Amino acid sequence: MPAYIVMGAQWGDEGKGKIVDVLAEKMDFVVRFQGGANAGHTVIHGDTRYVTHLIPSGVISGNSVNIIGNGCVVDPRTLLEEMEALEKQGVRITPAKFIISPQAHMVLPVHRYLDKLLNEKIGTTVRGIGPAYTDKVRRTGIRWERACDGSFAEACREHLDFLEKVYAVIGKEEMEKLRDGIPALAATVERLRPFVRDARPLLAQAVKEDSNILYEGAQGTFLDIDHGTYPYVTSSNTSIGGAYTGGGVFLDFHKRIAIMKSYTTRVGEGPFPTELFDETGEKLRRNGNEYGATTGRPRRCGWLDLHLLKTSCMINGFNYIVFSKVSCLSGFETLKVAVDHDPDGKPVYEALPGWEEDILGYTDFATLPENCRRYIRFVEDFLGVPVGMVSTGPDRDHVIRRRPIL
Ligand code: IMO
Ligand code: MG
Repeated sequence: MPAYIVMGAQWGDEGKGKIVDVLAEKMDFVVRFQGGANAGHTVIHGDTRYVTHLIPSGVISGNSVNIIGNGCVVDPRTLLEEMEALEKQGVRITPAKFIISPQAHMVLPVHRYLDKLLNEKIGTTVRGIGPAYTDKVRRTGIRWERACDGSFAEACREHLDFLEKVYAVIGKEEMEKLRDGIPALAATVERLRPFVRDARPLLAQAVKEDSNILYEGAQGTFLDIDHGTYPYVTSSNTSIGGAYTGGGVFLDFHKRIAIMKSYTTRVGEGPFPTELFDETGEKLRRNGNEYGATTGRPRRCGWLDLHLLKTSCMINGFNYIVFSKVSCLSGFETLKVAVDHDPDGKPVYEALPGWEEDILGYTDFATLPENCRRYIRFVEDFLGVPVGMVSTGPDRDHVIRRRPIL
């Protein structure tokens, strides 16, 4: 059963979009199983740069059926904007190729409002993700099935009445604004109605027929609500467990692909043991252009943390590593990697020699500088998982294929 899953091994922004795009060409189905528009996946084809937040990256190559699974939370306005932006770039999105699960939850304007008021200290993307999932588990959310049964506007009014009782922080004036916005929102939802369809029977059939299925993770393992650096996490299961609850049907992922950045970044608040606050960190940010695709925030940067990645491999059962952004490590005399954390949580480093050569766009492992090869081998030996692919630049052709992925 050729089922693949791609997940971020760190704190997100590992370069998942590019790899999903490379794989998606060969896929019959691409599935998002958690998260929402907090994700930001950049895909570059030649001179064209696509940014997706909600829609699986498979729409860009256009060969697959793309599913937003039941585990996602979806903001109708953001979705429509994203669809329109992609259409403008020549990507055709039809109900045959794009499906929103009726069991997925809606992110509503009130969720964005609450995110801003209540979750600032976590440094969220303010896309309403946490409050939408709160509604889901409280059993007061609105699911996409409401887009189809004509009861959406009424559900919104009841929902706001309920939240008004729960949250004193939503002032009278804001409530009025939110209520006034319902008809426009209902019109947006109406436009998306043709895309709402139960994806589970389709997926089950695809599994039976041995179709190629790719699950596209968003965020990263340490942003997982259970396994991450709680409370500085997102509100969904970003690791492999989320794929089972959020995708719809059982499948046996024969390739569990870690997207692992060759150094570490993080956006928002929360622990980050190998973070660099000096010129070295600044250099990583510059080399890697580490600014958020969703919020534009500068990302926090630091050395590779193999101690953490060991946990990530354990949780997700990774059996293939895509090592990304290696070309951003050129020009460092030494590269440190954390191989342990001391009792105070401070990283214990090993220093490896760096390399000077610019390796942007390299496609052959053998031609990489000796020290670069040594760095990569150190990582796979330490983790006990092979680095099957090395990404050497933003373009889809900037890739070294060491082991077949398909
Ligand atoms: P991709 O898919 C990096 C972070 C936010 C914040 C925390 C909670 O592009 O890798 P949320 O809005 O989810 O409630 O914010 O999670 N975060 C991400 N960081 N990449 C992402 O997505 C992220 N999605 C959420 O910065 O610290
Ligand atoms: Mg991102």
